[in-house]
This record gives sequence, structure tokens and C-alpha cells, in this order.
Amino acid sequence: MALALNGKVALITGGSRGIGFSTAEYLGKQGAKLFLVDVDGNGLEQASGILRGRGVETACHAADIADPSQAQKSVDACVSQFEKLDILVNNAGITRDALAVRMKAEDWESVLRVNLSGSFYMAQAAAKVMMRARTGRIVNIASVVGLMGNAGQANYAASKAGVIGMTKSLAKELASRGVTVNAVAPGFIETRMTEVLSEETRDALLKTIPLKRYGKPEEVAFVVGFLASEEAAYITGQVIPVDGGLVM
Ligand code: NAI
Repeated sequence: MALALNGKVALITGGSRGIGFSTAEYLGKQGAKLFLVDVDGNGLEQASGILRGRGVETACHAADIADPSQAQKSVDACVSQFEKLDILVNNAGITRDALAVRMKAEDWESVLRVNLSGSFYMAQAAAKVMMRARTGRIVNIASVVGLMGNAGQANYAASKAGVIGMTKSLAKELASRGVTVNAVAPGFIETRMTEVLSEETRDALLKTIPLKRYGKPEEVAFVVGFLASEEAAYITGQVIPVDGGLVM
């Protein structure tokens, strides 16, 4: 069954690779117009080129979402390109792992700044457009680590738990304007972010996943697509894990 995304405009942060790019591919396939935002300008051009080559209307904008004025400019650029913004996928994120006692203040701060503050600045700018339109979808990419914690990731877990709290608060604020806000909490997904883990860590992690495999970016994209669709109109403030059964 095709989702009702025809003609919708979707802004995806961190859209040049990994889960963000898979989400772009999926939303594009469902008929959405895409506006990709990423700090990696080269990756952005490449990703947009691939999508345009498949006939998907795609524009892009290089920006650091952790800077509130660049976040606002990204939303403004999307609206001036496509005259509206129906869907925001807050996907850009980073890790700077270390055990808490050894974690540098800059690594604590940068993860909070990108994953939590960046998502908030984007949601804030997008919400103004969506509230005026009296419709919209915000989908935040959290993580199972925000639900259950993870040794070596106090900064990342705090940022993703923050994203979940923000999701629920925004859902309550924006519901009366027809804007839904949900989060997807991926488990361990095969992307550049997890490629860097050691063989030992990967094997140990596999043992904890009931479905005994890592997830694929497109398996996350499918759930994002559903939450971004008209069909998901009665779902807001929820966190949907896509994790092979890791959290239950
Ligand atoms: P990735 O590292 O492959 O892609 C992240 C993208 O975000 C990159 O294109 C990067 O350039 C962009 N980005 C980073 N900082 C940015 C900034 N300040 N402004 C704009 N763009 C920025 O990562 P992946 O794995 O695709 O992750 C996407 C999201 O999914 C992240 O929020 C991550 O925390 C989350 N996630 C990933 C999991 C995994 O196992 N891969 C598990 C759970 C959550």
C-alpha cells in the first residue's frame, strides 16, 4: 500500500548518508519532495544527485543544525524553495563515546549540542511554519540508548533521552494545530556510526538482540515514512523502537 506522501515536502537533517539518506530514498519513492540539510556539503551534493537521477524533486542546503540561526535559515530555504514544509525528520546526530570518568567536557557538550539542541532548533523553526498551515509531521530520530542507557555513551544517552522528552512536550504543544510529533528509537543499525565499533563489541551486542542481527537503515526509514504520512494522523507523542526486540 502506498503512503499518502504525494506532493508533501520533507526536510531531512543528516540526509546525505545512513538512516537519513535511506529515509530520503523512501519518502522520495512515496512521492515526497525532498529538502536535505547536512553539515557535509560534498555528501549532500552527491546524495541529492542520486535522488534527482531517480526523478525525485530534491534540493539541499549545507548547514550545522547546532547553530540556531543556521537551523532557522535551513527551514527558510526549504519554504522559499518549495513554498511549504509538511514533514521534518530530525535525523542528524553524532557520537563521541568515552567512559564517563574520562569524558571530555567538549565531547559531552558537542553531542548534546548537535543531537538535542540541534533537533530542538530545527523543530522550533519548522513548528512555526506547520502551526500556520495547521498541519505537519515532526519525526525525531532518538535511540534505544535513550531508553536504556549504555556504558560509554552517557552524553549520547542523555541527548537521546532529551529528544524523547522534547518529543512528548512538543506533541502536547502542537496537537491542537494538527501537528504530530513522534520519535523513532533505532537499535543497532548498519551505518557508518556503527561501523566504527570493534568486532568484539559488535559480537557482544549481537547476543543481546533477540532477532540476532543488526538492522538496516531502510527498516528505520519505513517507520519514519509511516509516522510522516496522513495515515498516522492519530499517533502523537510516541516513541517507536526499531531494534530487533532489544527493548521490550
Ligand atoms: P551517520 O553518521 O551515518 O549520519 C549522520 C549524518 O548527520 C551525516 O550525514 C552527518 O554529516 C550529519 N550531521 C552530523 N552532524 C550534523 C550537524 N551538526 N548538522 C547537520 N548535519 C549533521 O549516522 P546514522 O547511523 O545514519 O544516524 C542517523 C541518526 O540515527 C542519528 O541521530 C543517530 O544518533 C541515530 N541512531 C543511529 C543508530 C545506528 O545504529 N546507526 C542507532 C540509533 C540511533
